[in-house]
Amino acid sequence: MMRTILIRLFLISTLSLLLSCPGGGTGTPPSDPNIGLYHNYAEIDAGLHALAAAHPDIAQISTIGKSLENRDLWAIKISDNVDQDEDEATVILLGTHHAREWIAADVPYLIAKHMIENYATDPAISTLIDNAEVWVVPMVNPDGHQYSITNNRLWRKNRRNNGDGTFGVDLNRNYGYNWGGPGSSGDSFSDTYRGPSAFSEPETQAVRDFVQREAPTALISYHNFSQLILYPWGSTYAAPPDEALLSDLARALRDKIQVVHNATYVPQQASDLYLASGDTIDWLYGVLSTVGFTIELRPRSSFPGFELPESEIQPTFEENLPAALHLIDWAIQRHSTTSS
Ligand code: ARG
Ligand code: ZN
Repeated sequence: MMRTILIRLFLISTLSLLLSCPGGGTGTPPSDPNIGLYHNYAEIDAGLHALAAAHPDIAQISTIGKSLENRDLWAIKISDNVDQDEDEATVILLGTHHAREWIAADVPYLIAKHMIENYATDPAISTLIDNAEVWVVPMVNPDGHQYSITNNRLWRKNRRNNGDGTFGVDLNRNYGYNWGGPGSSGDSFSDTYRGPSAFSEPETQAVRDFVQREAPTALISYHNFSQLILYPWGSTYAAPPDEALLSDLARALRDKIQVVHNATYVPQQASDLYLASGDTIDWLYGVLSTVGFTIELRPRSSFPGFELPESEIQPTFEENLPAALHLIDWAIQRHSTTSS
């Protein structure tokens, strides 16, 4: 008797649980699969819109283009007089060119959120927001990110149908400076497939047009893993014209990161890691002469590699926040000395 009651109770509670689940037939649209504390595309989309709605004076959301599968590539602009294009230093933070690098979406997203939510109370942040225009695009490759959730956790490229049974172009080999050079592949099956031509992909076209329009003073493109701060060049071992400036700045970012949780991020020229052609930073530096860094986030090594435990999202964000703020401050100084 007791047993039947317990079974009945169990059945009733399970059934009501199933029915109360979002997307469980209650008329709500199907949501992306949950990835715990990491943010999927729908959560970043909703989060950015909520931030802009709650802080319309300093945050504005727009799309820089669409992915192959028609997802908006969301950007949030953070500045005082946010609806005006002021003569201020511009800094761009880009996240997740590579699908499986989930932390590389969360870090720029959390930096944007922190800056917006602390504008009113943190004088250091309000000074930066008052004197710069900060643009954050947390997910350059939303189709790939989604695919890495639903189909293949270790997917890297976008979701281009290459027409030969293979899928995907490596967006970080598709930019138009030294495109096709060493460290990129012409084989469509390869994880570093550069695509049929420079800027063949809508995602890199969108970043190109957006970066050209905003003409930033500095940019960070977040990736993981290895804990590195990489500066140009990536496609040649030759030293960049501004080597002293780039390596000094990379070391300053390293120091800002280290003091927070004592994590070591190593500054180096990107080609000293390995040669790669057609990446974001070489195009930025080679074509626009703009200072940029690839920051390879946690973890340090291939265990756990791309699958960084969600308990490390918060500390990875915390240590990268002061580095991003430092670069924004540097851009403000630089802008004030280069513009009359
Ligand atoms: N992990 C990134 C990639 O493979 C880093 C590229 C940076 N450039 C370089 N030459 N290593 O796309
Ligand atoms: Zn990457």
